[in-house]
Amino acid sequence: MKIVTSVVEMIDLARTCRSGGSILALVPTMGALHRGHLSLLSIAGEHADCTVMSVFVNPTQFGPDEDYLKYPRTFDADCRAAESAGCDILFAPPVEEMYPPGHRTSVSVSGITERLCGASRPTHFRGVTTVVLKLFNIVNPHVAIFGAKDAQQATVIKRMVVDLHCPTRVIVGPIVREDDGLALSSRNGYLTPAERAVAPLIHRGLGNAEALFAGGERHADVLRDAVRNECAQSELIDPEYVEIVDQLTLEPLSLITSSALLAIACRMKESATRLIDNTLLGAVP
Ligand code: PAJ
Repeated sequence: MKIVTSVVEMIDLARTCRSGGSILALVPTMGALHRGHLSLLSIAGEHADCTVMSVFVNPTQFGPDEDYLKYPRTFDADCRAAESAGCDILFAPPVEEMYPPGHRTSVSVSGITERLCGASRPTHFRGVTTVVLKLFNIVNPHVAIFGAKDAQQATVIKRMVVDLHCPTRVIVGPIVREDDGLALSSRNGYLTPAERAVAPLIHRGLGNAEALFAGGERHADVLRDAVRNECAQSELIDPEYVEIVDQLTLEPLSLITSSALLAIACRMKESATRLIDNTLLGAVP
């Protein structure tokens, strides 16, 4: 596996791979790699013969009171994990390479970035789309793989790709979970033991809603209550939102006529860790 830290070198290397006829896949990450990230590398390998994983803790997607400085940075372990998962090129630029001195340009997708996570993180998605477009410009991948764990992020990036005519196909991989159902996240390490013990209630709540949906329930308020009631079993879980929305427009639905995204964000009360999770109701597998 080749490790690249310079933007110019990455542009050259990707161009060489492309002109040699390789299909290029990009898996953008912020490092602290876990099985969720590595599952995206294996999807990338099914679609491409050269896989690039970026590891970059992107400062612009963190709010002023968020965890940019304490975000886990485990570069050596990330290199080993990425290499054994079949990554060909690991792109890990320093901040000054990605944000040149005097930078003034950002990309934002309006509307769909203002609800769900955007309501409490008003500048987050602008940071995400800005860095992802930079990565697309540098690597120019044929395909880019994102995780369903960050459902709103995937929707926003797909919207940007259509709106800005990015010649990259976006593929979304399924959520990878711990045995007890907790969605893997680089932030799970922040949880206190008591929080970690109750965190699977979030996934259990989603499962309860899925079961009601499978039994014919279509009212969003009933399905949302199923999630809220499960989470209410622990006072350590403080739900920020539980929403049922259209997967593409992220508009709230009161009655589900076909499929819908059921998404939850909550704050764990001891460590203030924010966890998100979701499921697609009625999606064709
Ligand atoms: P990060 O949180 O490191 O996640 C990188 C990718 O891994 C994202 O596409 C995310 O959805 C996916 N992922 C995380 N946990 C997952 C899980 N349990 N199962 C499946 N996929 C999972 O998301 C970001 O970084 C950043 O916002 C980024 C897109 C890299 C831009 O900075």
